[in-house]
Amino acid sequence: MKIQSCNIKTDNYPNKSLHKYLEQFNLNSESELFQTEVAKKTVAEKLLISNCIVSVFINEFWTAQQRQSNSIHEISYRACFKAQLPRFFIDLLTDEEDLVYDPFSGRGTTIIEAALMNRNVISNDINPLSKILTEPRLNIPSINDVKKRLESINFYSNLKAEIDISMFYHPNTESEIVSLKKYLCERKISGKEDFIDRWIRMVATNRLTGHSKNFFSIYTLPPNQAISPERQKKLNIQSGQQAEYKNIKDIILIKSRNLLKDIDQQKIKDLSKIAKEGIFLSKDARKSKDIKDETVNLIVTSPPFLDVIQYADDNWLRCWFNDIDINDMKEKITVLKKLEDWTSFMRETFKEFYRIVKTGGWVAFEVGEVKNGKIKLDEVVVPIGIDAGFSCEGVMINSQIFSKTSNCWGVSNNTKGTNTNRIVIFKKG
Ligand SMILES: C[S@@+](CC[C@H](N)C(=O)[O-])C[C@H]1O[C@@H](n2cnc3c(N)ncnc32)[C@H](O)[C@@H]1O
Repeated sequence: MKIQSCNIKTDNYPNKSLHKYLEQFNLNSESELFQTEVAKKTVAEKLLISNCIVSVFINEFWTAQQRQSNSIHEISYRACFKAQLPRFFIDLLTDEEDLVYDPFSGRGTTIIEAALMNRNVISNDINPLSKILTEPRLNIPSINDVKKRLESINFYSNLKAEIDISMFYHPNTESEIVSLKKYLCERKISGKEDFIDRWIRMVATNRLTGHSKNFFSIYTLPPNQAISPERQKKLNIQSGQQAEYKNIKDIILIKSRNLLKDIDQQKIKDLSKIAKEGIFLSKDARKSKDIKDETVNLIVTSPPFLDVIQYADDNWLRCWFNDIDINDMKEKITVLKKLEDWTSFMRETFKEFYRIVKTGGWVAFEVGEVKNGKIKLDEVVVPIGIDAGFSCEGVMINSQIFSKTSNCWGVSNNTKGTNTNRIVIFKKG
């Protein structure tokens, strides 16, 4: 398996405090940036946020060259973070076999990375697609098993979906998708669904629509964002395109092989061991009673931001394929328009975090800048975490373009092709 080099010198820690570690953090010499004049040393500032003095650390803590993470991560999802983000905190703040939790797990980036690093995992996301996308990547079948299973499925040539999806698919492709949907549904209802079926479901869900030839659909938006049938019809007319036939079995096999490029037999065994102990929940993050008090060593997460993403609408085709009621999903997924509502949601969530995190445990909470940086959710979250009982150990800004002269509040977040993350770090006890 390819393990990317990691620029965290963990032996510097825990002998030093987190502050010292971040302050004295130096890029490793493999980093492109290391060769330049910029960003070799952390910029550290102190800020007053809601009567608390908070340290802010800016650097390129994980580098552009490390963008390439393990191939098993390559499943798209709206607003997912890169695997290097959870990796940084898992490596720094936990040991093997510790318990890592993501309450807003999305495509499962934290969970998969933690499992790859031999940590135990709990995953939660109110979007049922999250579990569909995450769990199979810890219970991995062989390519041969996937091939044999696909060969055993009846792919009919004359089936139509009960909704009109003809603007996305050639009629024969549509028939194959409906055949697979029917097969997976029957297996589930009869209790026969196994890990091979779940793998096929995960890959097919990811291949439904996209903008390159290895998707089932005609050219459309990237796969995490299915546009409406009406918009797709317009796009087809504008670009004069007509759906070609796609063989979905072949596409599922190609994607399976790509996902498993960096995974060997030993890793498959290790991951399945973690999966056996793992917990995969689809609950509201405020109500995690399935998780025992004081058991979690580290939470690494990014919450729903303020009214930015409509997860249910973006996923309407994925929901259809998986027989998920989109209206039910719309009701459950938290989409908050007002800052007061976001704040009270997070207050309840942090209370839950405090209950389940061990004394000495950590929360790394990634927030974006909303409304072009006018609202800084990191500033909002600091007092929420402190009120819940945590201490705030600092705000980390990982920026791939900052210069030493830039003020930390001036660093833009994903607006000018940059890749900046802001993470608030809390500690219990
Ligand atoms: C920013 S995304 C997380 C993406 C994730 N870090 C990844 O890499 O894929 C936020 C997630 O919060 C989930 N979510 C929204 N409301 C929730 C709630 N009340 N409880 C749990 N999850 C929720 C959404 O479904 C979405 O997957």
